[in-house]
Order: sequence, then C-alpha cells, then structure tokens
Amino acid sequence: MADHELTEPGCSTSSTDSFHVSRRDMIKSVIATGVVSSTSYLFRVSKVWAQASAPGAVDRLITLNVNGQDRRVDVMKQETLVMTLRYKLGLTGTKIGCDQAECGACTVLIDDVPQYACSVFTHTVRDKKIVTIEGLAKPDGTLHPVQQGIIDEQGFQCAFCMSGFIMATVGYLKVNPNPTRPELAHGISGNLCRCQDYDKILTAMMRGAEHLRKA
Ligand code: FES
Ligand code: FES
Repeated sequence: MADHELTEPGCSTSSTDSFHVSRRDMIKSVIATGVVSSTSYLFRVSKVWAQASAPGAVDRLITLNVNGQDRRVDVMKQETLVMTLRYKLGLTGTKIGCDQAECGACTVLIDDVPQYACSVFTHTVRDKKIVTIEGLAKPDGTLHPVQQGIIDEQGFQCAFCMSGFIMATVGYLKVNPNPTRPELAHGISGNLCRCQDYDKILTAMMRGAEHLRKA
C-alpha cells in the first residue's frame, strides 16, 4: 500500500510525514484493539484515537483493582465497565443482558455496592474496589455461602441471570445480613430473570443468607 493511502483526506503533510504519522497510528490502534484486520478498520480506530488524544482526554492505560488484584488495562474514554471486564480482562462471568441498566445481568460490586457494570464508565472506578463473580470463591475453590445456597437449592434454570443475582444478593446481605424473604426480594428487585424462576431463586438466596450468617 502506498504511504498516502494511510492519511486522512485533506491532509497536507508530506508523504514522509504521512508515513510517520500513519505508522504511529497503526501501533496505537493495535494497543487499542489487539487486532488490525483491515485498512478501513485502521482508519476508524485512528479517528477514535484522535478523539481520545484531544485536549481534556483521560489517560487510557489505567490500573483497576478487580477481585483484589491490580490490573493494568487499556481503556477507551467512553468504555463501560462490563466491556472492560469481559473483553479486556477476560472476566466473562459478568453477563450483558439489556446493556441499558434494566436487567441486572451485569451486576458487580463497586466498593461493596451492587451496580450495573453496563452503566458505569470504567474510568470512573479507577480508585474503587471491584468484585465480580470470579472473585467470590476462595482460592482453594470453596464457594461463597451464597453460591453454595444455589447449589443446595438448584435455584436457576438457564442461569444466564445467575451471576448478577448472586452479586446483588452478596451486596444486599452486607447491609442486611438477616433479611426476611420479602426484604430480600425487594433488595434484589433490580435484577430480572427471563426464565421467571423467581421463587426458586429467592429460596436459594435465602439459603445462601443462612449459610453466610453461620460462616
Ligand atoms: S446488562 Fe446491565 S443492566 Fe442489563
Ligand atoms: S434462570 Fe434463565 S434468565 Fe434467569
């Protein structure tokens, strides 16, 4: 490919400068995506990079504390936490359902508070502690008491919503460790189950709360 094909239309720099800038953009785009699959994709990524490099832009290479570990990650300016967790850090236990703050499938704990990861910009949680479903079990594999409650009660059907419900319950039990069934139902009412298995889910979560009190 000729050098000038890698420059934006209307660019007035010499062909040597054009090559230099384009090569730099290419390297940056690889950092952004991990893949350069086509010239058109390269153009798109370069434009996004140019926006992120504009005055007032935030640093892209940041440190997140996830499940007790500091993780360095390259994050786009308007990237949501669920995208970072799943597609940059490989923590796919956090699900994407609606991607618009309605279903709770993406629930994680941020400083012990359950939040929808699809509706939080990753850059805003740099100084917080994030816990995902992968961070609940002990290193030796012992399940969290709430997870054990689900095993005991077989609380889900397809289980797509399960990690979100677990994180919501774990968060709620931090403020109310001995809830009544209606209280717990209200406490995790921000989570939806497409299989509508609510009664069994609630039974499992109540069992989990019981395990947690004994732990
Ligand atoms: S995916 Fe986040 S609330 Fe539905
Ligand atoms: S068990 Fe299927 S979505 Fe909840």
